[in-house]
Parts: sequence; C-alpha cells; structure tokens
Amino acid sequence: MIHLILFGPPGVGKGTQSQRIIQHFDLLHIASGDLLRIQIMNQSDLGIKAKLYMDKGELVPDEIVISMIESILSSLDGKNGVVFDGFPRTPPQAEALDGLLKSRGEEISALVALKVPKEELVKRLESRGLTSGRADDSSIKTIENRLKVYDNKTSPVIKHYSEQGKYHPVNGVGMIDDVSKRLIDIIEPIVEAI
Ligand code: AP5
Repeated sequence: MIHLILFGPPGVGKGTQSQRIIQHFDLLHIASGDLLRIQIMNQSDLGIKAKLYMDKGELVPDEIVISMIESILSSLDGKNGVVFDGFPRTPPQAEALDGLLKSRGEEISALVALKVPKEELVKRLESRGLTSGRADDSSIKTIENRLKVYDNKTSPVIKHYSEQGKYHPVNGVGMIDDVSKRLIDIIEPIVEAI
C-alpha cells in the first residue's frame, strides 16, 4: 500500500494538493484538521476539547489525535493507500503512525514537504480568512502563532523521516496546476517502486 505524508506549514497547500494527489493515485485522504472540524461541528466531547486548542492556533494533544487516526486506519481495507494531510504533526505522532502501520505490515512510503516563504503563507491564510469562517484564519495573531507552532513542534517531523531516507522537498510556490505536476513527478517513481 502507498502511504504518503503531504507535509508543510499552515497555508502551504496541503489540502488543495491532497485532492489532486488522491485522484491521480486513487488514494484515501486523511486530513486531521478536517476530521477535528467535523467533531467540532457535531459538538462531540472530542470536538469541544479540540476547539479550545484550534481556535488559538495550538496543537490538539497528541493522544486525542493519535486515537482518532487509529480508528480511521482500522477501516482502511480495500484502498490503494492514504495521503495523510496535517498528520503527523509532532515526533510522537510520527512514531505512533509508524507503529500503527508496522502492526499492519505497512510503512510510510514518503514524506513530501511543500515549501513556501512565510510572507506568502500569511497572505494566503489572511485571504482565506475573509471567506472561510475558520476561527484560526481570522486574526493575524493566530496565524502567526500557527506558523510558530509549526516551526517549534511540527518541523522536527522532517528529521524523523529524513533519517529513514523518505524526505522529499517540493517548491509550493506558483500556479496550483504547476505545484501538482511537481508533486506527481516526485511521487510517481516512489509509487512505481512499491
Ligand atoms: P489543519 O486543518 O491541518 O490546518 P493547517 O495545517 O493550518 O493547514 P491549512 O488548512 O491552513 O493549510 P493547507 O496547507 O491545507 O493549505 P490549503 O490547501 O488549505 O489544522 C488546523 C488545526 O487543527 C491546527 O492548528 C491544530 O490546532 C489542529 N490539528 C490538526 N491536525 C493536528 C494534529 N495532527 N495534531 C494536533 N493538532 C492538529 O491552502 C491555503 C490557502 O491557499 C487556500 O485558500 C488555497 O486556495 C490557497 N492556495 C493553495 N495553493 C495555492 C497556490 N499554489 N497559490 C496560491 N494560493 C494557493
């Protein structure tokens, strides 16, 4: 099975490009942020707790997110594989994901990291905040905090997969179609080698 992590800071284009990658390679999309927002919409206990962190641009505690992903992974049978979007976001989440896959005889195929300068990320998120209704896009302070949290807590995940020889950086600046083509060019040989 193919297990890709589409990685990068808030606003880099993970959600946008995941849609294209899953169509191209016939994969399932697991987006931790979307799953958490569904929980918030349903006002579940998990959602009520997660909202306290998400509205401030902080990470939801690892144990909540890991158990959410674990339950999704257990219903995966019959698919070609997965694009993980927004997960893992800390080294403990990466270790948990590796363990969950290992117990199924599987592993991460690649971490593909989109790269976009910070000023462009802020512009994209501020602009999306005008229409998205997402509380975490609505103030520059929260946007800045999300980017800081990425640098401090999430970017070390790169080292985790780099040590496994699975890290592939990709330029995320430019037209959405051009970025998709760059991603597909990187991912295609990885998929063919599986
Ligand atoms: P999440 O939903 O994962 O949000 P995020 O990482 O902040 O990512 P975004 O959705 O903001 O950006 P994206 O990279 O998907 O870019 P997009 O394609 O949307 O997480 C939200 C929160 O949930 C977290 O802060 C945390 O609290 C919690 N959470 C989630 N997962 C967690 C985890 N694993 N552990 C703990 N907590 C977790 O694009 C952004 C904008 O740019 C769009 O408007 C798009 O149209 C535009 N755009 C895209 N590509 C381009 C391009 N090439 N040129 C110009 N504009 C573009």
